[in-house]
Amino acid sequence: MDDQQYLNKARDILRTRTPLIDKGRLRSFVDEFIKDRQRYQEAHDRAGSPLYLFDERALIRKAKEFRNAFHSEFPRVSIFYALKSNSHPFIMESLINEGYGIDVSSGKELEQALRYSPAKIIFSGPGKTLEELCLACGNADTVTVLLDSFGELSRLGETASGKDVRIKAGVRLMIEEKGLWRKFGILLSDIERFFDEAKKYPNVELCGLQFHSSWNLDAGKQTDFISRLGRVLAQMNRDVLQKINFIDIGGGYWPVQGEWIQPCATQEGRLKQCIEPGIPEGMEHYGISSAPIGEFARRLAKALEEHVLKYVDCTIYLEPGRWISHEAMHILVKVVDKKAYDTVICDGGTNMIGWERYETDYFPVINLSQPSLDEHPCMIFGSLCTPHDLWGYSYFGSDIGPGDILLIPMQGAYTYSLRQEFIKPIPPVHRLQ
Ligand SMILES: Cc1ncc(COP(=O)(O)O)c(C=O)c1O
Repeated sequence: MDDQQYLNKARDILRTRTPLIDKGRLRSFVDEFIKDRQRYQEAHDRAGSPLYLFDERALIRKAKEFRNAFHSEFPRVSIFYALKSNSHPFIMESLINEGYGIDVSSGKELEQALRYSPAKIIFSGPGKTLEELCLACGNADTVTVLLDSFGELSRLGETASGKDVRIKAGVRLMIEEKGLWRKFGILLSDIERFFDEAKKYPNVELCGLQFHSSWNLDAGKQTDFISRLGRVLAQMNRDVLQKINFIDIGGGYWPVQGEWIQPCATQEGRLKQCIEPGIPEGMEHYGISSAPIGEFARRLAKALEEHVLKYVDCTIYLEPGRWISHEAMHILVKVVDKKAYDTVICDGGTNMIGWERYETDYFPVINLSQPSLDEHPCMIFGSLCTPHDLWGYSYFGSDIGPGDILLIPMQGAYTYSLRQEFIKPIPPVHRLQ
């Protein structure tokens, strides 16, 4: 593109109007937590602050909702919780009790899952080491390995033969042939060759296909890939098709609240920041909507019926992480210092979540000690020695001051798992009553 084309494109982007979160919707979201504040206050009275709060009630509700949505659309389905989204044992244990299998992505996660004896485990991810494959083969009655490459097939074949076990496996398919996502899986056009190659390894029972795409606000990306897969299956040999007894369509379902973002994370905001860095953040909260889980289930079932299930008779595997764990954990911190009417420092820092989430994502900070549905601008910092240690640019409350207890609700996904032993210790996890 030449400069003029860039300028034209920039003008179009600046005209984009990412929708604001509806104020009424936001207030009723906050109100639910204010109504329940006794529950969080009691947790603080027992365990102090800062804290991660495990909300088992919310977790079980989500687990059942997800399962019901897919069970009502699919004849045969198995659900595996993606442990990476929140690896706390409370969460895994509750989900295993709900009948979920576990999706692990490393030897460490596999060891952790095995300690809780789920009925089934799938082991996905690129670059599995020989030690990891060995651990999988030692537990071949429970574990299915989702292979990432031809090389990994031969390493699994040799490891399984060395241990004299037969292990179930599937192969991951590449969803994008260019860019970062070509890291994962094999080309669609290589499926038949992969099944052919697997004949050399009698200790590997290759019987499935897997794909995964992340951050799906609706099922569009997944259904597009399902139709591409269908076109490949249509050309494939019958004896290969007969070997496929599961298709794993991954995770990546976005929570129903939608994506809540700060101004600088919108398309137009990103561009404005490049031109004028440091524009103030504040009270404008943007929301990109996402589809309800029932709609994901309906669209995926329809696409699979139309493109895939006429060729293969199989069970559908699902690997949800974020959608299940998002609501299952909240963060509680206490204000330690008030440095100006609009600047406070809290006892917990963003090492609790491992990344500078709230510079781009918005989540309400709720003052449980001085509750109100009014939102005020205020820099809510943690106490780490970095300016990026920020919980938000505003709070809900009538005022804010030292000793106040703040709740940042629904922080269960990709936060606790990414926690860092950085400057401050990692706080305890408290089970809410
Ligand atoms: C292979 C695989 N499956 C499942 C998941 C879970 O995704 P999500 O938490 O978005 O549902 C991931 C996340 O990165 C993944 O890589």
